[in-house]
Amino acid sequence: MCFWRPGICFWRQLRSRCTKLRPLKLCPTETLWQRALSGSPSRWPWRLRRAPKAMILTRHTPLQRAPDLEIELTAVTEIELIVNGECVRGHPLTLAVLDTFSTRKTVEQGLEELRPRLKGARAWLELTQHVTELYRAGVLQGPDQQTPILNSHSGWFGAAPVHIRMLNDRARTATFQQAIRETVTPEDVVVDIGTGTGVLAVTAALAGAKHVYAIESSTMGRLAQQAFAVNGLSDRITLVPGRSEQIDLPEKADILVSEIIGNDPLDEEILETTDDAVKRLLKPNARLIPESLSIYGLPVCGPADWLQAHIFTRASAAQWQAWYEMDFSVLAEASHQQNHSVLTNTYDTRDWLRLSEPVLLAELDLKSVEHKQIEMSAQVTAINTGVLNSVIVFFETKLSKSVQLSIHPSKATAGNSWASKIWIAGDPVTLAAGEPFKMSYAYGDKGSSFEINGR
Ligand SMILES: C[S@@+](CC[C@H](N)C(=O)[O-])C[C@H]1O[C@@H](n2cnc3c(N)ncnc32)[C@H](O)[C@@H]1O
Repeated sequence: MCFWRPGICFWRQLRSRCTKLRPLKLCPTETLWQRALSGSPSRWPWRLRRAPKAMILTRHTPLQRAPDLEIELTAVTEIELIVNGECVRGHPLTLAVLDTFSTRKTVEQGLEELRPRLKGARAWLELTQHVTELYRAGVLQGPDQQTPILNSHSGWFGAAPVHIRMLNDRARTATFQQAIRETVTPEDVVVDIGTGTGVLAVTAALAGAKHVYAIESSTMGRLAQQAFAVNGLSDRITLVPGRSEQIDLPEKADILVSEIIGNDPLDEEILETTDDAVKRLLKPNARLIPESLSIYGLPVCGPADWLQAHIFTRASAAQWQAWYEMDFSVLAEASHQQNHSVLTNTYDTRDWLRLSEPVLLAELDLKSVEHKQIEMSAQVTAINTGVLNSVIVFFETKLSKSVQLSIHPSKATAGNSWASKIWIAGDPVTLAAGEPFKMSYAYGDKGSSFEINGR
């Protein structure tokens, strides 16, 4: 049955429907629109909560999705949005709302577009209020609003801490600079994907590049742009805001610079991003910094106190039982039934007992990445006697002809900005020197996984 009768104004029908569903006390000058847009209660029935004057929406307010959004959807009990580090209540149509307001339109136009997805007046009201909440949270912006440049969520690329860590990692940054200086000539157009604070784009410009296109998807790009100006390089570096996959450049580049190597090395989508850049943004014989990436697994015996800080162990369960008179064995058994991963600076693992030489998990020529799924399995021989309880995943990368960077535990510095993935085996393996064991690694759409001796 069609809820809406043709020929009669949608908004008038809605008003009468709502009034039937639940009598609304509207003061004489208050319209349903005002009521729907004025509060941000999380559920029906509404509580009237007035927005500060500057924040009041009308149906004619033009809105657009904020340009630098980083959104994470979670669904523990109900959908929540983490927007630039702040939590906003979600709605089943949140993604549809974001899609609708990808271009600027009035509240009324946006809701009209979404109307076919709504069943009834309550649904419309709840969606209208969700639009208001998204507006208050800065997800949808009016004509004069802007997302603050720095957000406060420390783990995000729009926040300061992650860039502070990277700039304090002098080995990383200076090694990339060295490779750029070795590679760039005055004839070169450079594209820097993920410019962040702009440090590598500026290095390329100072190394003489004809022009640098600095692409950045987070708000940090706005600061990079100001930094280019302060350094007198505005005419040589163009900031291109957005994701590289969604951008076309006015000319193809001779060199790609991109430091988008993740903690789990492929997590920042270096393969997908580089593949797209090679196909669309670069000249056929372009040079890449980095050129190649090798991923290794180093089987080790992680120390007991480190292990006990990350998984439930049988020793911890016994200790707690003695302290608290409760049997905690289920916790330890649960931990022992699966592999776990934690993030650690490989520098902190430099003294751990190594049970074999590093095992090559993947060797990737970034210019021709055909397979974005990795599956490998290797027979390895133990070089020491001990308990293999963890595998450290680290990378080495060739940045240019003579410049390499490695975060092998013996080569990483205390300031290493990567928190490498360490796999903790649920079921540790006791090995004697010379004994063989099997190690398998896979990386795909769902991230990475590890097995030792098939477990
Ligand atoms: C690891 S940081 C490196 C920042 C800077 N290049 C440096 O070396 O200090 C990676 C940056 O790339 C950005 N980024 C990652 N993938 C991107 C893409 N495909 N398009 C645009 N920016 C991207 C992130 O927002 C982040 O600021």
